[in-house]
Order: sequence, then structure tokens, then C-alpha cells
Amino acid sequence: MTQITTADVVITSPGRNFVTLRLTTADGITGLGDATLNGRELAVASYLTDHVAPLLLGRDAHAIEDTWQYLYRGAYWRRGPVTMAAIAAVDMALWDIKAKVAGLPLYQLLGGASRTGALAYGHASGRDIPELLDSVREHLALGYRAIRVQTGIPGLDSVYGVAASSAGGGERYDYEPARRSAQGTPVRPVEEVWDTRAYLRHVPTVFEAVRSEFGPELPLLHDGHHRMTPREAAQLGKSLEPFDLFWLEDCTPAEDQAAPRYVRSQTTTPLAIGEVFNSVFDYQTLITERLIDYVRSAVTHTGGVTALKKLADFAGIYGVKTGFHGPTDISPVGHAAALHLDLAVHNFGIQEYMRHSEATLEVFRTSYRFTDDLLHPARRPVWASSSTTTPQPASCIRPPACRSTGCATGPCTTGEHGARPSVSAATDRTARLRTARSPGRATCRQRSPGLDGAGALN
Ligand code: CO
Repeated sequence: MTQITTADVVITSPGRNFVTLRLTTADGITGLGDATLNGRELAVASYLTDHVAPLLLGRDAHAIEDTWQYLYRGAYWRRGPVTMAAIAAVDMALWDIKAKVAGLPLYQLLGGASRTGALAYGHASGRDIPELLDSVREHLALGYRAIRVQTGIPGLDSVYGVAASSAGGGERYDYEPARRSAQGTPVRPVEEVWDTRAYLRHVPTVFEAVRSEFGPELPLLHDGHHRMTPREAAQLGKSLEPFDLFWLEDCTPAEDQAAPRYVRSQTTTPLAIGEVFNSVFDYQTLITERLIDYVRSAVTHTGGVTALKKLADFAGIYGVKTGFHGPTDISPVGHAAALHLDLAVHNFGIQEYMRHSEATLEVFRTSYRFTDDLLHPARRPVWASSSTTTPQPASCIRPPACRSTGCATGPCTTGEHGARPSVSAATDRTARLRTARSPGRATCRQRSPGLDGAGALN
């Protein structure tokens, strides 16, 4: 038996917030798990620190399934994004440890590679069609072989999923997948005006322009962001059939598993749903009735590698493929875990991949690669030993909902939050609560907190 001896919850904010669980065994082996739930980071940090970490000490690090069931069934309250993100972090860290002990990259323990790398799609967007076409060109130049297409809608000031401005200078268009308003305290969600009829009129013209510019072969995706009724979604699906989409994502509110029945009966456009789900049960109707073509869950938000492997296998029985969620609010640790599943499961479809910022990659140094137009997890099990002692640029906890550029460049103090909260966090009520409740757990560091992604998971 390999006992778990320490469980540390580490919160960092290299431009955005990440919560990471680091487990260490009596043999000194460490494993990392991603617990980042965007906009609710401290809820998961508290769940882990106050309720889960004490239960892990002394348990067998190799008993992954048993520990998963212990945490899932033992809490009385099952499922939910906070619970499942916490369980996911434990599960990922334990798989990381097991892979390291075995001396094999994780995908080998999951059955071995079914492919040489994972097809990835990137996010092209523009406020209008010419800007969008430029963005598609930039993504093709970066090596993407599949592209999600989103644009502004005439008459609407801004639309979620579309970059507010061009980065300029030939750089890619950037956008924040979980943005919040930059103004005021408390930080509030962004509110937008929406017009479904204008959207339904405009989107087919966008795909017509993209197809005429880039031809019929390029796999194209589109995200409806849960905005449509079944009738509206059916109308969009039908109108996009001539453009042969790879998928239409989240066309109806995802929590309504009956909604896609009507959409499915009306259109042959492939459907993808599930990035806000947190358990296999959220898919039960969707999969068994074959109402969708792709499951969109993330390792980080759906209970970890153990749960997502079961979901992929369940989906595979019904001919449903994977298309795992991969925004920048999933840390490189969570992303790495997904890549091992991508390589191993037979019913892989595609992997969403938004590149992390340079600031994030200074804290989480990954060893997965995007080369030859595919994503590749590391083929080696070794944990990069040098990283834990290498000084890193300052990173600092910031208020959990604060992701604006202004806050990201705010001051960062040193030392333990238990002793001295950071300047930016000190003005935030939740940060003060966290500091008072769990001193020494949530740590603001000037050095890398040992979050090298170049481990067995990566
Ligand atoms: Co989406």
C-alpha cells in the first residue's frame, strides 16, 4: 500500500484563476489534479480543503476506483459541479501517481494508444465576416485542422464567444471563455442584448462565406451557447445542412434532455452537448436515445479520468463520440489528462484546444505538444524534477470572478495568505473569508508551486 501523506490545495492566478490539488505519497511521489471551476474557484478550494483533504490522508494512493466511490457516495450529496470538480482533482492526481509508479504514460494504463495524436479544433471569431475569415486563416496557419466559427450579429453590440477586438499585428483574436464585467465591485457577469431571429438569419450567411473561401473539406463547428428553443434549433440545423458542419454545439439548454428530440427529428446536422454537465447521468437520455453525436464533458468537471472513461465507453456503445471541452479555464493539468483519454478511447471524435496564455504556461509547464497538426500527450512517465526548484515569475491569487486585464496586472504580494493576504485579494470579501478559514492552505507564491505539467499526466 502506498499511503497518501499530504494533500495541498494550491490556488494561483497567472492571468486567470486555477485551483490545483497536489497529493504526495509516503514514498515522495506527487500527483496533480485540476480543480478549476471558473467563477466558483473558491467553492471547490473550500470543498477540497475542508471536506476532502482530511479524508485522503492515510488512504492507499493506488485504490483509485475505491476512493472515487468513497468520495462520491460518502458525502450524501451526490453530483453537482463543485463536488465533481473536487472528486475530479483527486482522481487525476491519483492517476498521475499511478502512472509515475508504473513508469508508463497514462494512456498506456487506459488501454494504450488508439491513434497517433488528437485532432483539435480552435476558436475563430470576428465581429464581422472579413474579420472572421482573417481569424480562420490565422488558425489554419497555427496548424488547426478543424475550426469553430462564431461572429458578431448585425444590430447587436457584442456576442459571447466573439473576440471584442482584434489583437492586431497579425496576432490571433483572443477572447475569454468565462468572462466577467471589468467594472465595479462585486464583479458581475456580463449582460448582453440578444436577438434570436437576427442570429438565425445571419449564421447561414457566415457559413456560406467561410465555405466559399475555404472549400468543402475543412471541418467547421458552431456553438449555440444554449440559446435556442427546440424549434429555433431545428431551423438553424436545417439551414446549416448545406454547409456540412462537424457539429452544432449546445443548441438548446443542455439540462433539458428532452429538448434535442425535436431538433434531431428535423435535421441531420450533428449535435454536441455536455460541457456544463458533471456526471454520466446528465447524458442518460441523450445517449440511449441517440439524440447527440458528441459528448462535450471535461475531465476537470465530470469527476476525473475514472468517470470520463466510463462516460466515453457508455457513449461508444451507442455510436456517440467524444469532443471534450478544452477552454483556457481548464488548467494545463486538466487538459493533459483529457489528452491521454483522447489517445486511448476508441470513440474519440475531436478535442477542443484553446492555447493558454504565456503567463499560465510559466506556472504550468506542460509537456504535451501541438505538432503535425495534432495534439500529443507526453510519451514518458517521468516527472520533471527540475521545475519544483526553478524560480518562476510571480503569480498571485486574485478575486475569483476577477478576470479582466486590469486585475490581471494588479499588484501581487509575497508570502502565505494566512500571514498576509495579497493586496488585490484583501479588497475582496471572499478572499478574506478564505484567508481566515484556511490559513496556510491557499498559498500565494513567487515561485512555481510545483505545478509542472510535465508529469505522467502530461
Ligand atoms: Co461551448
